[in-house]
Amino acid sequence: MQQEENQWGSRLGFILATIGSAVGLGNIWRFSYVAYDNGGGAFLIPYFFALLTTGIPLLILEFSFGQKMRGSATLSFAKIHKKWEWIGWWSTLVTFVLITYYSVIISWSFKYIYYAFTQAWGSNPEAFLYGTHLNLSSGIDSLGGINISILATVALVWLINLVIVYNGIEAGVEKASKIFMPILAVLMLIITVRGVTLPGAIDGINQFLEPDFSALLNPKVWLAAYGQIFFTLSVCFGVMITYGSYLPKKSDIVNNAFITSLANCGFSFIVGIGVFGIVGYMSAQTGQPINDVVAQSIGLAFIVFPKAINMLPTFQTFLGFIFFLALGIAGISSSISMVEAVVAPLMDKFGFSRKKAATIVCGAGFLGSTLFTTGAGLYFLDVIDHYNMQFGVAIIGILEAAVLGWYYKAEVLRKFFNPISNFQIGTWWDIMIKFITPLLLTIMVVKSLITEISQPYGGYPLSGLKIGWIVAGMLLVVAVILNLLPDKYDDRLLNN
Ligand code: TRP
Repeated sequence: MQQEENQWGSRLGFILATIGSAVGLGNIWRFSYVAYDNGGGAFLIPYFFALLTTGIPLLILEFSFGQKMRGSATLSFAKIHKKWEWIGWWSTLVTFVLITYYSVIISWSFKYIYYAFTQAWGSNPEAFLYGTHLNLSSGIDSLGGINISILATVALVWLINLVIVYNGIEAGVEKASKIFMPILAVLMLIITVRGVTLPGAIDGINQFLEPDFSALLNPKVWLAAYGQIFFTLSVCFGVMITYGSYLPKKSDIVNNAFITSLANCGFSFIVGIGVFGIVGYMSAQTGQPINDVVAQSIGLAFIVFPKAINMLPTFQTFLGFIFFLALGIAGISSSISMVEAVVAPLMDKFGFSRKKAATIVCGAGFLGSTLFTTGAGLYFLDVIDHYNMQFGVAIIGILEAAVLGWYYKAEVLRKFFNPISNFQIGTWWDIMIKFITPLLLTIMVVKSLITEISQPYGGYPLSGLKIGWIVAGMLLVVAVILNLLPDKYDDRLLNN
C-alpha cells in the first residue's frame, strides 16, 4: 500500500518540502510587486489578516485532511463520499495545467543563468526578452514557430521533475528539498544584503514599506491580499493534502502549518526588501521615479533585474548568476510538489506504480508545455493563468471549505488534529472554514466575473480569451469523467 512505502523520513524533511512548495517564483516576483501596488507597507495589514483568517486555517485543513484520509486529494475526497471525488480531480487538473506553464518560466530562469555570464541581454533587456529570447509573435492569434532552444530547456526541467518524483517521497522529494532549501536561503540572503547596501537603496525600501493607510478602504487591496495568500501557500491545489498524507500517524499539524506559512511569508518579505533596495538604487542612478522603474511579474524578474545588473558597480556576473539560480531553484522545488500532486492521484485511482505514473505525468506535461514555447506562448500563458487562478482555484477553495466544513464537519477534523498537535486550536477555526473563507472567496469570484464581463481581460481579442474559458471549463468536465471511471481503491475506502 502506498502509505507504508511513502512517508516523510523526518519532521524537518516534511517542513522543508512544504516550504519548498510554497516558496516559488511567486515569492520572488509576485509579492514585492503586489505589495507595492496595493498600499506598500499598509498592504502588510490585509496580508497578515488574510494569512491568519484563511491561509493558515486552510493549510491546517489540508494537512489534517490528507493525514487523516491517508490519500491524495482525489482519494481523500472519495473517502468522504464517492460523489465528492471530482473536487479532488478538479484541483489536480488545475495543478497539472499550472505546471505546464510554470515549468516554462523555470526554463527561462535557466536560460537567464546562462545569459548572465555574458550579460547577453545587452543594453536593452526588454527588447532582448521579447525578441531574441522569446521571439514573441504579433498577437495571440498568430502562433509563430516553436522556439527550439526554450523547448530543449523545458525538456531539462521536466527531466529534473521526473528524476526527483520517480525516486519517491523520502529518497526523491525530501532529499531534494534538503539540498535546495538551504542553498536558496543563502542565495536570497546574498541578494538582499547586496540590495540594501547599494546607494539609494533606502529610498526604494521606504517606498515599498511606506504605509498608505487609505489603501485599506479599497476592496481591491483586500482581494489582492487574499489572492496572494492562496497562491503563495499553494493551498487548494491538492498539493498540501497529498503532502499531509505522507505524514506518519500522530504527527503535529498545527505547529507545522504555522512554521510553513510564517517561513514562506517571511521569505517573501525579506526578498521584497532586497528587490526594492535594488529598485531604489536604479532610481537613484537613472533619476527616474521608482514608479517608472518597477514592473509587473515577468517584467520584474526578466527585465528590471537584468537592467539592475547592468548598472551594478561590481560583481555583475556573479549577482546575475545568483539571482537566476535562486529563481530556478525556487521554481523547481515548487514544481516537484505539483508533479507529486498529480502523480499520487493516478497511483491511488488506477493502481499505477510510482514510476509509471511519474513517466505519464512528465511526458504529458512536457507535451502540454510546448504550447508555451511557441511565439504566442507568453500570451497563452497569461490568458490561461488568469482563468485557471481567478476562477479555478477560487471555486475549488469554496467547494473544499463547504464540503469539509459543513458536510464532513470542521469539528470532526479539529477533534482529530488537536490531540496530535503541539498546541490547540479553538472553535474560531471552524468559523473561518465554514463561514469566512467561503464567503470571501465567493465575493472574489463574483467580483472577478463582473470585471471580466465589463472589461475583457488584458485587452486580448475575444477569440483569444475563449481559449482560457475552454481550458478552465474542460477541466471541470474531465474531473467529473475521472470521478465516474472505475477505480482500484475500494478496499482502501473501507479501512478509513
Ligand atoms: N506557491 C508557489 C509560488 O509562490 C506557486 C504555487 C501555486 C504552487 N500553486 C502551487 C506551487 C502548487 C506548488 C504547488 O510560486
